Amino acid sequence: MGERFELRLRDGTPVIVRPLLEEDRPAVAEAYRRLSPEGRYQRFWSPIGELLGDAMLDRLIEQDPQTHVTWVVLDPAREFPGVGGASWWRNRANPAEAEISAMVLDADQRRGIGTLLLAVMWLTAFRAGVEHLVAYTLQDNRRAAKWMQDCGADGTWDGYKLVFRWDLNNLDSLPATAAGVDLAEWLAILSPMILGD
Ligand SMILES: CC(C)(COP(=O)(O)OP(=O)(O)OC[C@H]1O[C@@H](n2cnc3c(N)ncnc32)[C@H](O)[C@@H]1OP(=O)(O)O)[C@@H](O)C(=O)NCCC(=O)NCCS
Repeated sequence: MGERFELRLRDGTPVIVRPLLEEDRPAVAEAYRRLSPEGRYQRFWSPIGELLGDAMLDRLIEQDPQTHVTWVVLDPAREFPGVGGASWWRNRANPAEAEISAMVLDADQRRGIGTLLLAVMWLTAFRAGVEHLVAYTLQDNRRAAKWMQDCGADGTWDGYKLVFRWDLNNLDSLPATAAGVDLAEWLAILSPMILGD
């Protein structure tokens, strides 16, 4: 069996955190159907409608620990357990860098799930030899932009989108924001699980 972590959110909710599996395909399609149009737009930057196409499902599910992973957070007490997911894709031209994206169901945002997923992305990318994570947001996605800044990313504007960048070797200078402290705690908890002692 693959990696699978049983953790608790800060409100005490038990969750399972694991890579996305082929058998999750219908659940991922359903999770996207449940997103608000705004959330879908913020993640995909185009009005993709309620149906996630097969090509995007393949892109999320087909993984290789060296080049692309997708992990999900599940609340097993729920009828529909999926509450969020995140991926990173390694930059082919610059393998020291990987692009991450994250998505948490609207009603479950601000519970620390995005920050937990960021910690998993950080450590799985670091394990693969990635040195920098980058994330892109639309200019009006203020919540995501603030969250990334609060989690210690350097933000710049490239004329079209906001570009956020984390140095994965720089664990010691995370900001003293709520999300930054949360991220540091998850990194400390997950590091032995993902990187070994
Ligand atoms: C961006 C996104 C992934 C963040 O996920 P999230 O689960 O809401 O993130 P968290 O709960 O970990 O952190 C967000 C908020 O919780 C706060 N928080 C985190 N840990 C905290 C703690 N211990 N105590 C109090 N607040 C805390 C953060 O400061 C932040 O607060 P703010 O929104 O008031 O600034 C989510 O909003 C989302 O899915 N957005 C739509 C898609 C998207 O924009 N993706 C990003 C581009 S790919």
